[in-house]
Amino acid sequence: MKNRKKQFGAISLLACLIVLAISLTGFQNPVIPSSKKADIQLSQYAPEQPIAYSHKLHAGDLEIPCEFCHTYARRSRTAGIPAMEQCMSCHKIMATDRPAIQEMASLYDQNQAVEWVKVHDLPDYVYFSHKRHVKAGFECQDCHGPVETMDVVAREAPLTMGWCVDCHKQNREQGASLDCLVCHK
Ligand code: HEC
Ligand code: HEC
Ligand code: HEC
Ligand code: HEC
Ligand code: HEC
Repeated sequence: MKNRKKQFGAISLLACLIVLAISLTGFQNPVIPSSKKADIQLSQYAPEQPIAYSHKLHAGDLEIPCEFCHTYARRSRTAGIPAMEQCMSCHKIMATDRPAIQEMASLYDQNQAVEWVKVHDLPDYVYFSHKRHVKAGFECQDCHGPVETMDVVAREAPLTMGWCVDCHKQNREQGASLDCLVCHK
């Protein structure tokens, strides 16, 4: 009798470890909905920017990491648009003969910033935060597409409720919620 109990204990411990292992791997591999690709085609929006800054050149060819410029993505609600200092750290000395860089330098000297046009803008009644999504293991590209191939950023995230809810449905065991008040506080 005692022996059986022991055996049962060992088996249930093993079962627990397996479940734990599965949930841990699940945690590292969030599910990206397959409907995403279809949604993407519906939502391209790529406004012209005041300075012809290229992600293809900087994030693609020069391989500057996304989070070098979008510093807050892992730590706060917004990813953040880099301050002029970030650009000028290189452009005080690089490509200073180009008109676009001279324009930027002259704004910088006057203590002004480039007025970048927003590509993404959720309605105010929606709560979204980068931090939890980035920490859950999603790549920037899972929501924003291959930004490092874009000269002009196009909005690939449809930003509809269906888009958010679809992914939350497929990641419920990872803690994604369908509760209205999670997104509408
Ligand atoms: C050298 C700095 C720099 C790097 C590196 C960089 N970005 Fe950006 N990013 C910017 C600037 C400046 C803007 C605003 C101008 C624009 O939209 O092109 C921007 C805009 C964006 C936007 C649109 C923001 C909005 O208005 O909604 C997204 C999304 C984005 N970046 C994602 C990325 C991703 C993903 C990577 C890495 C693959 C990356 N960025 C790398 C500087 C950078
Ligand atoms: C789960 C999807 C998702 C992931 C992953 C994600 N984003 Fe976003 N991103 C969004 C949404 C949604 C918005 C619009 C937010 C708004 O309008 O309030 C946004 C807006 C932005 C913006 C403009 C506004 C801001 O927050 O500054 C930038 C820049 C940006 N993302 C960069 C990034 C970068 C860089 C990464 C990777 C480190 C990343 N995002 C990962 C969904 C995502
Ligand atoms: C790590 C260094 C580095 C950083 C940071 C950087 N750049 Fe650049 N940038 C370069 C290099 C290198 C080139 C390519 C010059 C060439 O074509 O030889 C370039 C080219 C450019 C050009 C094209 C100039 C032209 O007309 O040919 C623009 C515009 C530009 N950068 C804007 C920006 C902006 C805006 C930021 C900040 C968001 C920024 N850069 C941050 C290194 C950098
Ligand atoms: C690619 C999949 C994916 C997309 C797209 C997505 N989410 Fe999430 N979201 C998740 C996952 C997974 C979690 C749970 C993360 C955790 O708890 O670690 C989560 C958690 C959240 C949370 C709770 C955590 C927090 O930051 O307070 C909110 C709020 C949220 N998402 C809002 C949104 C909104 C709004 C959108 C659409 C604009 C959206 N999400 C799009 C996967 C996604
Ligand atoms: C994961 C995030 C998320 C959850 C959960 C969520 N919503 Fe939303 N909701 C959104 C987003 C994003 C929008 C903005 C969509 C747009 O502008 O198309 C939105 C828009 C709306 C709107 C405005 C629609 C319109 O046409 O203007 C209503 C009403 C709404 N949601 C109600 C709800 C209710 C009720 C629930 C619970 C059953 C819910 N939402 C759950 C993200 C969410």
